[in-house]
Amino acid sequence: MNPLIAPSVLAADFANLQKEVEMINGSAADYIHVDIMDGVFVPNISMGLPVVEAIKRYATKPLDVHLMIVNPDHYLAAFQRAGAAQITVHSEACPHLHRTIQSIKELGCKAGVAVNPHTPVSLLEDIIREVDLVILMSVNPGFGGQKFIDNTYKKVHRLTKLIVETGSHAKIEIDGGVSMENAKKLFDAGANILVAGNFVFSSKNPQETIKKLKNIV
Ligand code: DX5
Ligand code: ZN
Repeated sequence: MNPLIAPSVLAADFANLQKEVEMINGSAADYIHVDIMDGVFVPNISMGLPVVEAIKRYATKPLDVHLMIVNPDHYLAAFQRAGAAQITVHSEACPHLHRTIQSIKELGCKAGVAVNPHTPVSLLEDIIREVDLVILMSVNPGFGGQKFIDNTYKKVHRLTKLIVETGSHAKIEIDGGVSMENAKKLFDAGANILVAGNFVFSSKNPQETIKKLKNIV
């Protein structure tokens, strides 16, 4: 098993974004997680394309772009051009999810689907072989620094089973409330990638925290 870590820049100091990205570059992190919120799909607005471009200018790790927006199809090409290596859309925002996933792949990006805490993993049955990544939301999307929802462990088990049964190559990413308290249990349950925002950026030594999360198993 290769535990992967994706620090979320939502928790970074936006006034010093270059410095924050360089901190991630110099760390053991595997991705930079970029949260895009539109104030419609989620009750918050975060950052848009110019900020993603600015991050990309300095980033040496792949950008893991998490779109919490309605009508993501309208913006896929723009996020690819801005530097996304993987693009994840929400199942709840995509009435034609299969088409959206194909569009992401045609752009040359890895394609992910995210599910909210209330959305059952079984909904992914007929798409799981098409996706490179599933983000299981372990908080309701919209804000950093929220409390981890314990039901996520069950979902990791169910999703791992579905992936094995279908022969899918999808990775499982957990997003929200990740800390040292749940990281090991999540990796043990079958998670491949952990997103960590506040836990990393509000720690005294973020690079050390990233290393500890990565080496927890
Ligand atoms: C929540 C975002 C998360 C968030 C995680 O809507 O999708 O990626 O940045 O932040 P923490 O780790 O602080 O819960
Ligand atoms: Zn996210």
